[in-house]
Amino acid sequence: MAEKIVIITGATDGIGKVAAREILKKGYSVALVGRNKEKLAQVNAELSQYAVKNSISLYQADLSSVKETKKVAEKIQKDFPKIHVLLNNAGAFFSEHSVTKEGLESTFALNHLNYFVFADTLIPSLHASGEGRIVNVASGAHFGVSLDFDNLQGEVKFSGWKQYQKSKLMNIYFTYELDERLKEKSITVNCLHPGFVKTKFGHNNIGFAKSALQFAQNLFAMNEDKGARTSIFLSTSDEVKNVSGGYFEKSKARKSSKPSYDLSARKELWKKSEQLVKAILK
Ligand SMILES: NC(=O)c1ccc[n+]([C@@H]2O[C@H](COP(=O)([O-])OP(=O)(O)OC[C@H]3O[C@@H](n4cnc5c(N)ncnc54)[C@H](OP(=O)(O)O)[C@@H]3O)[C@@H](O)[C@H]2O)c1
Repeated sequence: MAEKIVIITGATDGIGKVAAREILKKGYSVALVGRNKEKLAQVNAELSQYAVKNSISLYQADLSSVKETKKVAEKIQKDFPKIHVLLNNAGAFFSEHSVTKEGLESTFALNHLNYFVFADTLIPSLHASGEGRIVNVASGAHFGVSLDFDNLQGEVKFSGWKQYQKSKLMNIYFTYELDERLKEKSITVNCLHPGFVKTKFGHNNIGFAKSALQFAQNLFAMNEDKGARTSIFLSTSDEVKNVSGGYFEKSKARKSSKPSYDLSARKELWKKSEQLVKAILK
């Protein structure tokens, strides 16, 4: 077991899996969270060549469920009293409206509330390491949208892509708000756009949404190794060990969209998220 531990959600494919491999190579231990037991075992087998004894731990959970997210995060918190990095990476695009078993819209539950609950639960361990980092994988797709609090979960009007864009704006609000709330603690919080990356992103859909995305990925997207670079940089580089509250692209701080700096929307989202999580966990 290496000295420093990085928790990576959505580590069974795409950006998360490459990040796990590269972070292991740097000598960290990793705890990988995925929803599929077989894929977790497969990734473990693939990555074990880069691991020292016990440096890979595996956790299974459906992260679109608030209850399962809370449970797995509590287990990780217990297993690792000191955590150095939480890489909140699991996410997806749902072209059709769908709801989770807890009655939440799937994009909102997986892409936003999952980050919210995971980070909140791991704060004591991140603080205890004395140098904790929270890295939230957002997206440049957040440009062009703002939040409508009467339609937060697409309950009035639903567009799958718009809902995805909004969930990524939520990642940025969450990052900026959490950064402010953790100012007194030794934990940094940053978010990033990985670029347009050729992964299995969007392949859960059917019909036009899937084929159009795959077509664009084949033509324009960068490979996963490149796409994981900013996540790895924010998780491990000394250059950003004291940097917090930033939005990054190509490992450089950038300005996020104008609406992402709207303080009242940011506070309102936090309040609504907290209320929803409390109601589900009560
Ligand atoms: N690809 C891009 O161009 C792009 C651009 C901007 C931002 N992003 C963001 O990058 C992050 C990673 O996406 P990716 O491109 O690497 O996609 P990906 O290849 O589809 O990987 C997504 C990962 O999340 C996991 N996941 C999905 N739903 C889950 C659930 N309910 N519970 C637990 N794990 C779940 C997947 O598990 P399975 O292996 O079981 O499917 C997989 O490990 C996402 O937050 C995405 O929004 C991607």
